[in-house]
Amino acid sequence: MSQFNQQKFINSLSNIQRARISQISNPSTPHHLHIFSNIPSTNQTLWQLIDSGASPGTIVIATQQTAGRGQWGRNWISSIGGLYMSVAPNISISQTPQLTLSTAWGIASNLQDYGVPVKIKWPNDLILENRKLGGILTETRINKKKISQAIIGIGINWANSVPDTGINLQSYYRNQSQPEIFSLEMLAAIVFHGVDSGIKQLSESGIESILPAYTQLLINIGQEVVVEDRIGEVVGVTNSGELKVKINPNPATLNTQSQIFSSEINLKPGTISLGYGQISRGVGE
Ligand code: BTN
Repeated sequence: MSQFNQQKFINSLSNIQRARISQISNPSTPHHLHIFSNIPSTNQTLWQLIDSGASPGTIVIATQQTAGRGQWGRNWISSIGGLYMSVAPNISISQTPQLTLSTAWGIASNLQDYGVPVKIKWPNDLILENRKLGGILTETRINKKKISQAIIGIGINWANSVPDTGINLQSYYRNQSQPEIFSLEMLAAIVFHGVDSGIKQLSESGIESILPAYTQLLINIGQEVVVEDRIGEVVGVTNSGELKVKINPNPATLNTQSQIFSSEINLKPGTISLGYGQISRGVGE
């Protein structure tokens, strides 16, 4: 598989939009679609296209990347067979974490509609059977404290090789009797529709309308974490996308009034790395 079939993508997308599985009022048509076989990074190429006048709404898809970017400055290994897609939404949103959360929710819930029981690891890892199926990298340009342009880059493992902590959809399907996603193009269409529904929901109804469903998909609720040497438990996510941790009372000082009640700390994305179930350490404010 070395080619990405543009027509197949467009047909899949219109079928998905017609099926209106995840209802959105006004689904977007990808009017400027750029498909490459091998580029350094779809995010990088999309920024270059925007700098040379491409309009918001433009999409870049590559069948392979040589310098894929991951979160926190990591590399995203992007061998052939995976989905590598970047989208430049046409919206004015003031908070990057909200955009990231909404996109993760949109993609995960759309994949669930197609029978893939994807969960989310805060803030935006897509998890299947306790392994990483994909990730989202939101890059923004800020002007006067507002996001002037955002690019959302999505990598999903379809048939590409993955590390031990990863999973691709093809290997998941080996144990499933009735796969509902039949091609990389169909996966791309579902993911695009997911991004579109997440962003529309955020801009029309606010993060409050997404958080309950997002939290339901989180694998981290109830997870034990250590913040500044105190043990706590993940209890939710705030409106600005921070992780809410309930810190347990310190047994050594339990007889003092102030320690009887547990306190809550909010952690910004990037200040704690949550594993897949083991205790994680973070830094509170
Ligand atoms: C993560 O680290 O979890 C996020 C990975 C995001 C990778 C995608 S692949 C398409 C787009 N282009 C990039 O260079 N990165 C993102």
